[in-house]
Formats: sequence, structure tokens, C-alpha cells
Amino acid sequence: VATPAITSPSVNRVVALVERPIAIPQASDFRIEERPIPAIGPGEFLVRNIYLSVDPAQRGWAAAVANYSDAVPLGSPMRALAVGIVMESRNKDIQAGEYYYGWFGWQDYCAADPGHILRRVDPDLAPLSAYAGVLGINGMTAYLALMKLGEPQRSETVLVSTAAGAVGSIVGQLARSLGCATVGLTSTETKVELCRRRFGYDQALSYKRQDFAAALAGLCPRGVHVLFDNAGGDILDVSLRLMAVRGRVIQCGTASIAAWSPPPLGLRNEREVLTKRLRWSGFVIFDHASQFDAATAVLIRSLNSGQLVYDEDISHGITHAPGALASLYAGENTGKKLIFIGA
Ligand SMILES: NC(=O)c1ccc[n+]([C@@H]2O[C@H](COP(=O)([O-])OP(=O)(O)OC[C@H]3O[C@@H](n4cnc5c(N)ncnc54)[C@H](OP(=O)(O)O)[C@@H]3O)[C@@H](O)[C@H]2O)c1
Repeated sequence: VATPAITSPSVNRVVALVERPIAIPQASDFRIEERPIPAIGPGEFLVRNIYLSVDPAQRGWAAAVANYSDAVPLGSPMRALAVGIVMESRNKDIQAGEYYYGWFGWQDYCAADPGHILRRVDPDLAPLSAYAGVLGINGMTAYLALMKLGEPQRSETVLVSTAAGAVGSIVGQLARSLGCATVGLTSTETKVELCRRRFGYDQALSYKRQDFAAALAGLCPRGVHVLFDNAGGDILDVSLRLMAVRGRVIQCGTASIAAWSPPPLGLRNEREVLTKRLRWSGFVIFDHASQFDAATAVLIRSLNSGQLVYDEDISHGITHAPGALASLYAGENTGKKLIFIGA
């Protein structure tokens, strides 16, 4: 697999978080600053970032609301995953020229230690960009959450929100390969078609339709056995009413909730949970690091056999970073959203 040619800028362009977002982070919450290339200490290594990842979870990392990690300090480089190459190393286990996927931030360079690494990248097995998407937290989330929490069985119905996106498009394909009936939810009719034609969903539907609840019920005549929910809000409320007895709900994302204060209101569905004996589990990919290698191996096999396809939405240049989360939450991306900053 060819790796892109990269340059070595003489300064570190950092996308700093300068305002604490209340709702969806906007471009004005960030500022691009030129800083010196960081020096590396003993045990550290210098990473030149190539692909910056844009993830819905960054909204939570930037905000001051309850989350599973501390908020990014104002003035710091925005916390982000990235794929980069080691330029220089003072760690005997890490060599210059190696590629890694890890917590390298929205910036050109990162002085990293092994704690920053999520996994080593082998550019001979897959393109570098794939390690930040289908082989990164998106693919691993799709696989591990579906298999561990969803436990899908042959001929069950699996309903997926953000179905055309980086995680959802993989969930649908994996569930279908297990013999499940798959239903995908997305915004536009173009993405509905993408779900059906490219990602193999048996059925797909726009959650923006006036008759959304009735139309969805029509697509799930036997009830929903596994709800892989990345959206929350109305989509979750409506879907919970369609669950089959002993259905499993995976709460993987909350993309439809713009802000948590005041708390959003919706249908009360506890009766559904009780009477249908539902299991509703939250998932955070970073709890599953011990299974990253195994999950990646499965995904690489599926990619190489042609069973799994994926789309990427790659912008070029770090100037795209500040507005990238707003664009993601507006649903403007088709596939995994990345920013190539190697040139
Ligand atoms: N829990 C974990 O460990 C974990 C790890 C990775 C990802 N996730 C979650 O998985 C979900 C998808 O992430 P991704 O990286 O694959 O991003 P993605 O699906 O490629 O992009 C985000 C998508 O969210 C959808 N969206 C935005 N606003 C929405 C709204 N109001 N209602 C419904 N959908 C809306 C848009 O798709 P449409 O055009 O279809 O609306 C947009 O394309 C996110 O919720 C993310 O937080 C969770």
C-alpha cells in the first residue's frame, strides 16, 4: 500500500481549544496557533501527524459536562486521535519511521510517550487512513459493541442509527454478514440509498420523515432485537417502542442531542424496558483496549476478502480542523471524517 509523501514543517501548527463549547463545537471555539516543535524527553518520541481524526466524541472531550474523561484544558491542543510517523525517538522500543495511531492531538507534531499509542500501524496491510477509521475506533467500536453487547443472532433484526457514517456503515455490514435483517437510519435520501446499495442494509429510512415512527414500525414487523443507537433523543425514544422481548440496546452515541443543559425531554420508556425485559448497555471503546488487536485482525480479514467496504471523507489542510466538528454534526460527511495534514 503506497504511503503519502509528507513534509516536515518548521513550526508546530496547533489547533487550540480557546472557548468551552456549550453545544456543538463551532470553528470559533478553536484557534490555529504556530508554536515551536516540541522537544522530546527521555522515553519520548516525536510524531509528525499525517491524518487527524474528527470524532463526535470530541464534543464531549471539549465540553464541561459529565463525561468519561477530563475536559480538554483551554489553550491546549484539541484532544484527538491521529495517525502519524515517528520522526525522532528517545525510546528504545519505538523507532523513527514507524507509524502509530494514538492520542497525538490536532497539531502537526506531538511529543509522545507509549501511553499515547492506541496501536501500531502497518502500512503494508492497509492504507494509513484506514487505521484512523475502519481499523481505528470507528471499526473497533462497530465490531466490539455489536458482538459483546448486542450478541446478534441469525435472522434477528438489528436497527442502527447514524447508519451511513463511519461506525454505523460497519455495524450494518457486520450484522448482515451474521445473517441478521438490518435496518439503517440516516438523514437524507442520498444517504438512505448509500445504506441500501453500498453498505448492504436490507432497509433504510430517513429519520427526518414526517411519518418516521410509523414507517420504522413497518420496517421492523418482528420487533428490534438489537438496537445499535448512536443518536439518542427522538430516534431512541421511537426505536425503544419497537423492541422485541429480550432485546438488547447498545447506547454507543448521542449524536442527536445538541446540549445537555437543560436536560432534554422525551417519551418515558421505562415501561418498555420492563415489559420487554430489555438490556440497555453503555459502551466506551477505550474500556476494550485489550481486544483492539483481535478486533483489527477480524476487520482486516473482512476488508481483504472484500466483504467489508468503507468510505472516507478527507479534507486537506489543518485549516479544516476548527470547523470539522460542526460539519460532522450537520451530517455533511459521507464516511469517516479525516483531515490530511501531511503535505
Ligand atoms: N461509545 C464509543 O466508544 C464510540 C466510539 C466511536 C463512535 N461513537 C459514536 O458513534 C456515532 C457515530 O460516530 P462516527 O465517528 O461514525 O461518526 P459519523 O456517523 O461518520 O458522523 C456523525 C453522524 O452523526 C449524524 N448526526 C448528526 N446529527 C444528528 C442528529 N441530530 N440526529 C441523528 N444523527 C445525527 C450524521 O449522520 P446523518 O446524516 O445520518 O444524520 C453524521 O454524519 C457517534 O454518536 C459517536 O459518538 C461512540
